[in-house]
Amino acid sequence: GDVAVLVPAAGAGVRLGPGGPKALRLLGGEPLLVHVVRRIAAAPSVHTVVVAAPATEVDAVRQLLTPVAPVLVVAGGAERQASVANALAAVPSGPDIVLVHDAARALTPPALVEAVAAAVRAGHDAVIPVLPVSDTIKQVDAAGVVLATVDRSALRAVQTPQGFRREVLAAAHAAAGDPLTDDAGLVEQQGVPVFCVPGSEYALKVTRPFDLTLAEHLLAAGH
Ligand code: C5P
Repeated sequence: GDVAVLVPAAGAGVRLGPGGPKALRLLGGEPLLVHVVRRIAAAPSVHTVVVAAPATEVDAVRQLLTPVAPVLVVAGGAERQASVANALAAVPSGPDIVLVHDAARALTPPALVEAVAAAVRAGHDAVIPVLPVSDTIKQVDAAGVVLATVDRSALRAVQTPQGFRREVLAAAHAAAGDPLTDDAGLVEQQGVPVFCVPGSEYALKVTRPFDLTLAEHLLAAGH
C-alpha cells in the first residue's frame, strides 16, 4: 500500500448528547472508531493508519484498536484541524498519498477509500467525495429571515475520506491559519485544485442522535 489514513477521533460529540468522546460511543455494541478502523484496514491500498484520540484516551484507544488493525495512536488537539496536524506529523516515511477520514463516518465502505486513493494516484493533488444536495438551500440572517435561495445544482455536500498527495497536505497544514472544518479547505487556500468523486450515502457523519439511529439500522442490515 502507498496510502496513510489519518483518523481525527478527538471530538467531544456534544451534538450527539451526553456520553463521552464521540468516537467511543457504541454502534451495534462497538465504538464508532472500531467500525471505521476496521473498514479502513480492509482497503488494500492502506499501508498506515494514524488515529488522533482524545488526549486522556490515548492508551485506552491503543488497547481498543490493537485487535482490530495495526494503528499508530497520537493525542488530538482542541480543534479538528489540530488533531489532523498531530496525526500527519506521526506518519512514517513511505506513503505518498494521505487520506483524512472522520471517525464519525463509521460505516464508510472500503471501496470509497480505494476510489479516493485511486483518484490521487491518477494525478489529482486533492480529492474529495461529494453528494448532490437534495434539500433546497437558503441563506438566512441572524433573525431567521431568508436573504437568498442558493442554486442547488451547483452545490455539493462534502464527505471524507479526503485524499491528498502527501506534500500538498503537509504544505497546506504548515500554512494553515484559522481552523477549518475540512482539509480540502486548507488546500484550496493554497490555490490547489480539488477534484470531486462520487461519495456514498453510507459515509454519513454520525453527528446527532438521529444519525446514530440510522447507522444502527444500516449496520443491522449488513452494511
Ligand atoms: O465535530 P465533527 O463531528 O465535525 O468532527 C469531525 C471529526 O473530527 C470527528 O471524527 C471528530 O472526532 C474529529 N475531531 C477531532 N478533534 C477535535 C474535534 C473533532 O479529532 N478537536
